[in-house]
Parts: sequence; C-alpha cells; structure tokens
Amino acid sequence: MAIESVLQENRVFDPPADLVKNAAVPGMEAYKALCAEADKDYEGYWARLAKEHLVWKQPFTKTLNEANYPFYKWFEDGKLNVSYNCLDKNVDAGLGDKVALIFEADDGKVTRVTYKELLAKTCQFANALKARGVKKGDRVVIYLPMSVEGIVAMQACARIGAIHSVVFGGFSAQSIRDRVNDAGAVAIITADEQCRGGKAIPLKPAVDEAIGLGGCESIKTVFVYQRTGGACNMVAGRDITWADAVAGQATTCEPEWVEAEHPLFLLYTSGSTGKPKGVQHSSGGYLLHAILTTKWTFDLKANDVFWCTADIGWVTGHTYITYGPLACGGTEIVFEGVPTYPDAGRFWKMIQDHKATIFYTAPTAIRSLIKAADTNPAVAPKNYDLSSLRILGSVGEPINPEAWMWYYNNVGGGKCPIMDTFWQTETGGHMITPLPGVTPLVPGSCTLPFPGIQATIVDETGTEVDWGKGGFLVVKKPWPSMIRTIWGDPDRFKKSYYPEDLGGKLYLAGDGAVRDAKNGYFTIMGRIDDVLNVSGHRMGTMEIESALVSNPKVAEAAVVGRPDDLTGEAICAFVVLKGARPNGDEAKKVVKELQDWVGKEIGPIAKPKDIRFGENLPKTRSGKIMRRLLRSLAKGEEITQDVSTLENPAILDQLKQAAG
Ligand code: PRX
Repeated sequence: MAIESVLQENRVFDPPADLVKNAAVPGMEAYKALCAEADKDYEGYWARLAKEHLVWKQPFTKTLNEANYPFYKWFEDGKLNVSYNCLDKNVDAGLGDKVALIFEADDGKVTRVTYKELLAKTCQFANALKARGVKKGDRVVIYLPMSVEGIVAMQACARIGAIHSVVFGGFSAQSIRDRVNDAGAVAIITADEQCRGGKAIPLKPAVDEAIGLGGCESIKTVFVYQRTGGACNMVAGRDITWADAVAGQATTCEPEWVEAEHPLFLLYTSGSTGKPKGVQHSSGGYLLHAILTTKWTFDLKANDVFWCTADIGWVTGHTYITYGPLACGGTEIVFEGVPTYPDAGRFWKMIQDHKATIFYTAPTAIRSLIKAADTNPAVAPKNYDLSSLRILGSVGEPINPEAWMWYYNNVGGGKCPIMDTFWQTETGGHMITPLPGVTPLVPGSCTLPFPGIQATIVDETGTEVDWGKGGFLVVKKPWPSMIRTIWGDPDRFKKSYYPEDLGGKLYLAGDGAVRDAKNGYFTIMGRIDDVLNVSGHRMGTMEIESALVSNPKVAEAAVVGRPDDLTGEAICAFVVLKGARPNGDEAKKVVKELQDWVGKEIGPIAKPKDIRFGENLPKTRSGKIMRRLLRSLAKGEEITQDVSTLENPAILDQLKQAAG
C-alpha cells in the first residue's frame, strides 16, 4: 500500500477540566462506556438513544433490518416527523419565546426568529406547498441563499413529507437542470437575488434557464422569495412569490407522520464517475445522529450560541444548521454573507456581537483569514472580544497543523478545544471526531470514532491493517444516519460504497487514512478516488473533464488536483484542442474562455485554476492517460517516473507550463 502518513505531530492538548466534568460526554471513561455499550449490544445501544432523543408518534419495535444489505433499514416500523422534532417539541417544552435563529444579513442587519415564530413560518409555508399540490414523497428543489426562508423551506418540506434537494446557490443552470431532472422534482423554491459581499447576484434567471434547457417538465411551481425585490421574470401560472404563496395560509399545519425510513432529503454530490449522485437520507436515523453529534461533539447546551458557517447547500448546513441545533432547542447564527465583507474581520466581529460560544467552520476559511490577518493586522482576531467562545470545530478537509495552531491560539485564545470532524455527505453526521470533554487533541488528527461508529482501516482485500499502516477507511457496521441509496441508481450505491472486492459488507468512505501506532488516532490522508477537495467542496475530475470536452473547441481533457495553500487542492486541467495548440495571448484567451465555460456548465467553484495545452496527453501504448504523471506535472515536480511506456514523450515539455 502506497499510502503512508507523513504527519509527525507530538503536541497534545488535553480537554479543559470543566468540560471533562460537565460536557455531555464527561471524560474518557464516559466515552469508553458508550463505546463498550455499543460493542456489547449494537442494536440495543442505538435503540436506547433513538428512544431517548427522538419523539416518536408511533414507537418502533424493530431497530435494524439487515436482510437486504447494504440497503439497511433503521427503526422501520416507527413513525415520526422531523419538523415536529425540531420545532413543536421545543415550543411544547416551553421554549417558544427562545431565539432559534439569529440571522445576520450581508449588510449587517440582524433578525431574530423565535421557536414559536419559526414554527408558524414553517407551517404557513408547508400549507403553501400543499396548496400548490406538493405532497408526501414529492421532490422539491431548493435554490436559495442563506436565509431564514431557506431553513423554513427545508423544514416545511419535512413537515409535509416532501423530499427536499437543496442546490447550492453557486451552481449553474445546467447543474440545476440535471438535479431537477434526476430527482423528478415538482417544484423549485428560489429567490430573486442573493446578496453577497455588498453585491446583489441574480438567482432566478438560472432557474428560468435551467427549465429552458428542457428535461424539467415535472416542475409545476416555482416559488420566488423576494430577497431584494429586484426586477424578476415571473412566468404566469407557474411562478408565485413567497409572499403571495403564504398570504392567507394558516400558521398551523398538522405534521405528516412518516415512517422512519421515509426519505428526508436528497443531496447531490460528486463521485469518481458520471454525473453527481443523489445521496438519499432517511428521517429517523438521520435526525438521531444530527442530534447526538450536536449534543456530544459540540456539547450544545441551553445557553449556547452556536454558529456553523456552512451554506445550507452542503450537508454541513443540513445537519448543523437546519436540523441538529434546532432539534436540540439551540440558538444559532445564520449568516448570509461572506467572511471578507466588509472586511476579513467579519467572522470575529459576528462572534463578538452575538457572543457565539461554539464556532464551526472549514480549514479553507481559516487559511484565508490567516492570510488576511497577516496582510492587514486590523482584521486579526486579537482586535475582537472572542472570550464567549468555548468550543471550535473544523470540517470538510484535513486541517494542517499550522492552521490548527493558529485557530487554537488566535481564535480560541488557547482555551477552546477544536473538534476536527471527519464525515461526508453520505454519512449524515460526524464519524470520526474528538469530543470536547473527552479527547486529548493532536493537531491534524480527527482522533477517534464517534461512540457507536465502527470505523477501521483495511487493505485492498478488506483485511484490517495494523495501526501505523495506511489503507482504506471503512465502517464495519451500518449506522442510523448512513446514506440509504443513490436516488434512482441502487446499483451505483452498492458498487460505490459496498464493493465486492472488500467483501460487500464494509462501507468504503473513499478516503485513505492511517491510525497512530501508539494511540490509534485517525489521520485522514485524502481521497483514494478521482474526487478533488477544493475549499472543502467535493468535485469529480470526470465531471470537469466532461464539461471541458463539451466545449466545441476541446478534443480531449484530463483533470487532476494539485496542492494549494489556500484551497487545499486546486483544479489543474490538461487540454488538447481540436485546432492548433495556442500560444501567448491566444492561449490566455482560450484559458479564460474554458474557465468561463466550466463555470457555466457546473458552477464557478469548478473552474480550473490552471489550464495547460498540449498537442496530446501523455498516454501509455494501450492508450491510457497517465494521471500519475499529470499530477507530477501539475505540482511542478521533476519527472522521475518511468516514461518509457509513454507513446509521445515530447508533449511532456508542452504540459509543464501553465497557459495564461
Ligand atoms: O475527503 C474527506 C473530506 O471531505 C470528504 C467529504 O466531502 P463532502 O461529502 O462534501 O462532505 C464535507 C462535509 C462533511 C471526505 O471524504 N473531509 C471531510 N471532513 C474532513 C475531511 N478530510 C479530513 N478531515 C476532515 N475533518
């Protein structure tokens, strides 16, 4: 196995004493007791937690059904409603006047929404959906900016048993079209514009364009939230403003009691082959893990102010904005804007203003704010009062030890433990993570599995490897919040996550990992497939290649990742044009053209940073593109690999330099 860890990290940070005593999981012994309980009686453990943490309309009697593995079922004869568990439950418990959401707009305007208000808004919009014929099991695409309405829209779908599929606002018309088409969605909920960094950026035109591309005939209604009130095309009979849709609707709505396995949402994510796949999540099992991880990883308590900076377009925004914190009765910050507007002190100012106690963000944001603080000391965290913070979190990509230390010292004041949470769209919630009152921290390691998660590392035959040896990260047993299937493609689900090579019963995460030889701590070493991680966003190299070759000028393209200080990985594309290989200004022009093309096909986040032109790509004599070689070229490494099998060695020189 070629995967070996290069990380040598000896610093250890013990959990703060008050957390060891008072956290939801108080101390290592408490953690070990939970793990032992799960080891002894796996189903009994999850059944106990599902009874204690969820409100069931109809209690379940079966915990886990493995008959049709890997299509596992959890709590299958139980009935519940996710929105009831997030809203009504808290109002009934006397939290109606507690602030659920502190929404801060791009321009700094703050709106507070209580649990009672959020419930009323959710019911009203649920009724609006029903009035337009949306019913249990229907798919609804949500293409909204970070907003109270975004959360309301998701909760309203959950309330009536409709399956939402949120599409990140940075994705293009083509991406919306593909998702609507794959999901067979009946409605889209969007906004006229979104506000980011002081600018209003149109959203609705992308929806119109998506529908215009064809293949969205299932769409009956487009709901348009008027965020700015800017001019916006409305199609008679199909489009309705949010305000008109909720006008006259009751502020109560009986929840639809659904089976625990009823799909709560689809979320499209990139894989190593083909188009993005619709990861399907359940209602009961998903919510259970959202609650447990919010309580145990973040120790969310009644007086906390929780802030997860993710967008609701990603899974982190689903689990740690829309569902987890609300189902725990927490108060959370929802931010519309960007970390650098009006300046790069925005996050720190917001923590100060709202007295945030728990802060959860991505390494890429931290790295860019380190850089900003280095260039302009006025926006450094030390200029702000961050003393309210007690717990920090990181997600989406490996956090390099330097960024970890900066985060720990400069943001956390050397007193807040950092939860480096490893998980995926498919896992629904944290899988390997420290717990604040339990785990001595080692920068760069996501430490130990969440209690009940049976993670380990295997070789290519599915055999567990010794600690200290690298291999594939797998999960040995099903867990409640796991992906249920890929929408419309159960075969792909089976092949991608439960490959026969590994015996068919191990969940394959798609990451390489290693456990520390002494303490068993996990370190994630990155994807083992053709999936890139750019600023914590997953991108399939195949997807970008397909987008490139769909340009009439392009004959062939290969995409690889290369390390980038800021974004973790950067996209590097090697392109063969149908015409002559361009040079100088002409090359620059084509680079820009192709970047914009990919931006339009997928979204700006997929634009290659670096494009290189060759008369051909390096291929073996059997015609296989030598990706390993391309990765070396992208990094600017000397080519030390054997190129004797290369059919056309001369093109290596052409591909060494970035064009434009
Ligand atoms: O490679 C791992 C990386 O992000 C991938 C999952 O991406 P996505 O489904 O978009 O979900 C991101 C948010 C949960 C993983 O396969 N990843 C995620 N968290 C970490 C990580 N890599 C290292 N450390 C992490 N904490």
